[in-house]
Amino acid sequence: MSTAEVAKPFHLTGNFAPVFEENTCTDLKVTGSIPSALRGRFFRNGSNPQSGYSDHWFLGNGMIHGIELADGKANWYRNRYVQTPLYQNPDEERSGRLDWSLANTHVISHAGHILALEEGSLPFEVSRDLETVGRYDFDGKLQSNMTAHPRVCPKTGELLFFGYGAVPPYLTYHRVSADGQLVQSEEITVKGPTMMHDWNITENYVIWMDLPMVFDLEVAMKGGIPIRWSDDYGARLGVMPRNGTDKDVTWYEIEDCYVFHPMNAYEDGNKIVIDTSRFKKLAFSPADGKGTPAVLHRWVIDTEKGTVSEQPIDDRPADFPRVPDALIGQKHRYGYMAGFGNSNAEMGKWIYKYDLQTGSETTADLGDLRAGEPVFAADPNGTSEDDGWIMSFVFDPERDASDLIILDASNFSNEPVARVHLPVRVPYGFHGSWIPDE
Ligand SMILES: [Fe+2]
Repeated sequence: MSTAEVAKPFHLTGNFAPVFEENTCTDLKVTGSIPSALRGRFFRNGSNPQSGYSDHWFLGNGMIHGIELADGKANWYRNRYVQTPLYQNPDEERSGRLDWSLANTHVISHAGHILALEEGSLPFEVSRDLETVGRYDFDGKLQSNMTAHPRVCPKTGELLFFGYGAVPPYLTYHRVSADGQLVQSEEITVKGPTMMHDWNITENYVIWMDLPMVFDLEVAMKGGIPIRWSDDYGARLGVMPRNGTDKDVTWYEIEDCYVFHPMNAYEDGNKIVIDTSRFKKLAFSPADGKGTPAVLHRWVIDTEKGTVSEQPIDDRPADFPRVPDALIGQKHRYGYMAGFGNSNAEMGKWIYKYDLQTGSETTADLGDLRAGEPVFAADPNGTSEDDGWIMSFVFDPERDASDLIILDASNFSNEPVARVHLPVRVPYGFHGSWIPDE
């Protein structure tokens, strides 16, 4: 390894390093058998700096990797940059954050549109074969940036989301009807410029997380991401009816912590249960000192008593929690997470299936393979919550290339039912979706 290689930050080395070619691959080799019930596309977004360099893992251009499955076959693998203004004209002066357009964090489907998302930008629409359609602003109605973690309510079909920023209004709530019309936008008061990466919905509420990772100009002057941990900001959860406004929010103090990703939330009588991947303390930049890893944790808000109880569920580092899309905001029994171990070398070595009803857990140990977010693809003929499959791109160091693995969620084990072998590498990335054919 050269000195230059050693000096590179982690996010530019190994399988974090960007790839530069946009490929379309057919005739993909498969080990095992792809369930014939799977008809659709698995898309996953990630950070892939076109120059080969970025100051932080979160700051590369968006590149989506996708696979189409049908009739027990993998028809194609494609990877494409999201063609944002920043990607097309990287040296042009940018007037503001909405023009920053990284589009690198998530890719979701709603009302017939596939959207690439990054929390400082407007969404970008892409096609089913990953060509960029263009910026997507809900007919000009979306005036703020959009979180990369919107939620589609499985009961109403609504798309609920928010935008946050470093200057007031720090937080804005948005509600989009099932047919894609932006019908409500509300400013929400938070204590300050908190980094709100994700949030929660239930059948009747949204739950804000006003947590102590805040924008800081001093950190901004030093380059990188201008966010730091605050010992005095405090932490609270805000419960608001889904069609409510700022004045309807009830706030609940909780222990200091940071959460990138909740697993899911649901109502249980007067209680709201939130399972979440939680850092007791997040270290984002060197100024934050020592942090703790994220582990699965449960908050239970008692809306009658006005209290929140907190309970760790596991002590093993894990993140990227997912439940079936059909249970978002509804009571889940099972949740899936990527296990991170104690070093980058172990990141994604395991996928955990938690049974929150019995308190048990099943681990898929992937051996030398390294997975990302475990995305649940429901069996359209299924009857039980875990009838379906877990999908993730994995890195195979032996081939210096990647596979799509498909694990049977109801019969969870180390062995995938299918591995689609790609001739190329898919760098570690962020979030994705299984988008089944109608
Ligand atoms: Fe995220």
